[in-house]
Amino acid sequence: MRVLGIETSCDETGIAIYDDQLGIMAHQLYSQVALHADYGGVVPELASRDHIRKTIPLIEAALKDAGCTKDDIDGVAFTAGPGLMGALLVGATIGRSLAFAWGKPAVAVHHMEGHLLAPMLEERAPEFPFVALLVSGGHTLLVRVDGIGCYEILGESVDDAAGEAFDKTAKLMDLDYPGGPRLAKLAELGTPNRFVFPRPMTAKPGLDFSFSGLKTATATTIAAEIAADTYDQQTRADIAHAFQQAVVDTLAIKCKRALLQTGLNRLVVAGGVSANVSLREQLSELMASLKGEAFYPRNEYCTDNGAMIAFAGLQRLKAGDVEPLAVRARPRWPLDELTAV
Ligand code: KG4
Ligand code: ZN
Repeated sequence: MRVLGIETSCDETGIAIYDDQLGIMAHQLYSQVALHADYGGVVPELASRDHIRKTIPLIEAALKDAGCTKDDIDGVAFTAGPGLMGALLVGATIGRSLAFAWGKPAVAVHHMEGHLLAPMLEERAPEFPFVALLVSGGHTLLVRVDGIGCYEILGESVDDAAGEAFDKTAKLMDLDYPGGPRLAKLAELGTPNRFVFPRPMTAKPGLDFSFSGLKTATATTIAAEIAADTYDQQTRADIAHAFQQAVVDTLAIKCKRALLQTGLNRLVVAGGVSANVSLREQLSELMASLKGEAFYPRNEYCTDNGAMIAFAGLQRLKAGDVEPLAVRARPRWPLDELTAV
């Protein structure tokens, strides 16, 4: 079976073709970063318009790369949520219509299920059951995964997502959008422990997260350093380091708790923030200490992409999950509403 995947939920147009015998046959990605940079964040209307411009040319390019035509495609998968409504509707409308025109089935994919399954595109793929830490710009979730569609939410952020906290803190530090990776780069130059920020919600039991207070702690520290006229380049790096370390420690503490609570020893980490080197190092150490294993997608499949949507879509199509003719998108869509395949 061969599936065309379309991802347009936020600021990346991702198109891919996945074949269950051959793997990823084509992978096209267009990032709107430059478009939104002047505004310091994603402007939804501009995102939708840009997806309209890019989706069909990228589908054509992916078909060409894979050396196939529409007749070689067995189904079309598109991200139907969660995400920006206008952006989602572009992928949903194009995906649903193409499938209709080609006489093939269409399937609606949950964006976070796409992220969650992305490590399965790697040679060393995790087996079920496992605990998944999903850390993106929109979500921070700890999930017990017993199979595709068998998701039990163990914990989630009660305010900002981890990626969102990275981006907002980066903005406070005058780093350009998207700030997460830039803040991580600056943190590499930081002195460990010159500043220490709180590890929110780790003192009490439970698996939920809260990251908005960290942003405030950073803002207060920056203001104090500016007032003391000591907010130089090294201080900025030291603050970035302290912020990143607080996020990474907090995520690691909750992952350990979730693994002990479930008795599982496999951890899948996915979503944009899973590209963070410091997070990977710490979680790999944690898994070594627990005699378990950590699984990640390759870097290009950590952030939004079409490959994960084509892969998740294929699994669902194979199980007979087919989208009706209406074009549907859900800006909010709880992961645990998905059905098992
Ligand atoms: O999964 P993703 O591409 O989009 C959503 O579904 O939200 O995640 C994007 C998020 C952004 O907040 C970005 O700043 C963050 O992932 N991110 C990182 C890194 N790379 C991307 N955060 C920290 N360190 C990184 N290396
Ligand atoms: Zn995402």
